[in-house]
Amino acid sequence: MVKVEKFITESIRRIQEEAGGEHAVIALSGGVDSSVCAELASRAIGDKLIPIYVDTGLMRKGETARIKEIFGHLGVRIIDAGEEFISALAGESDPEKKRKIIGEKFIRIFEREARATGARYLLQGTIYPDCIESEGGIKSHHNVGGMPLSIEFSKVIEPLRELYKDEVRDVAEALGLPGEIAHRMPFPGPGLSVRVVGAITREAIEVVREANAIVEDVLVEKYRPWQCLAALVGLGTGVKGDNRLHGWIVAVRAVNSRDGMTADPIEITWEDLAEIQGRITSTIPAVSRVVYDITPKPPATIEYE
Ligand code: XMP
Repeated sequence: MVKVEKFITESIRRIQEEAGGEHAVIALSGGVDSSVCAELASRAIGDKLIPIYVDTGLMRKGETARIKEIFGHLGVRIIDAGEEFISALAGESDPEKKRKIIGEKFIRIFEREARATGARYLLQGTIYPDCIESEGGIKSHHNVGGMPLSIEFSKVIEPLRELYKDEVRDVAEALGLPGEIAHRMPFPGPGLSVRVVGAITREAIEVVREANAIVEDVLVEKYRPWQCLAALVGLGTGVKGDNRLHGWIVAVRAVNSRDGMTADPIEITWEDLAEIQGRITSTIPAVSRVVYDITPKPPATIEYE
């Protein structure tokens, strides 16, 4: 997008107009979309902006602590809801139902917090691909606008709804957000839940969280992927010491993409793949094997559910 500065000026003006001096809440996830949206809104309406971060218990390792550090100055409210989410998901293995449960739970918790603030407007970092993928029925996105809200917001403000991801990153840089945010890999709203095929348990989430952290540690700096991740794709037999182990199969995925709608697998060196395998199987006892996924999108999606 060539006219980044113009976009910023106009968005700030539009948010001011739309909010009309009232308080507005935003669900801040720490991803580039909601961060840019929060920064624009903060410039537009200052302390009338109420950012809420819901820790679903499905976040990446260290994520909540980082959010506190980075967005502390915006007065972000951190809601610790991990137990609520895991209990609500218990026993459910259908991917769309898992998404719906998470979306629904997220909305109710968000509403509960928003109601307490008396805010009249809702800000959302929805971007263009979110709109078209949801309209096309590819999958339900958990963005707040797509779910039934029982709370009466007078308006939903979506300043980024005409932008692609790379354009949002340009805006993030122009706003002076840290590179860590501007170049952050996308992370799905339903979090690590879409990286565990089948039913969610606390143990599965802990395993996939650790495996994701290792994959990111080895690949992010060196390959600068659009997205890289680890997912639990099932159970398989392995052997550790003298014992056979029915452990998790971890799939590793690293892709490049422009907008997430198509994606190509990245050629990772054998040494790096071996490092990932070695670190995952040696530090996470419940894992029996590690595989690398070379499927483009289409036919595969980026996430596993
Ligand atoms: P897929 O897996 O459909 O993902 O190829 C395309 C991009 O969207 C992200 N993704 C989601 N983001 N809610 C989100 O906010 C979701 O339910 C969701 N599912 C996938 C995914 O990480 C990738 O960047």
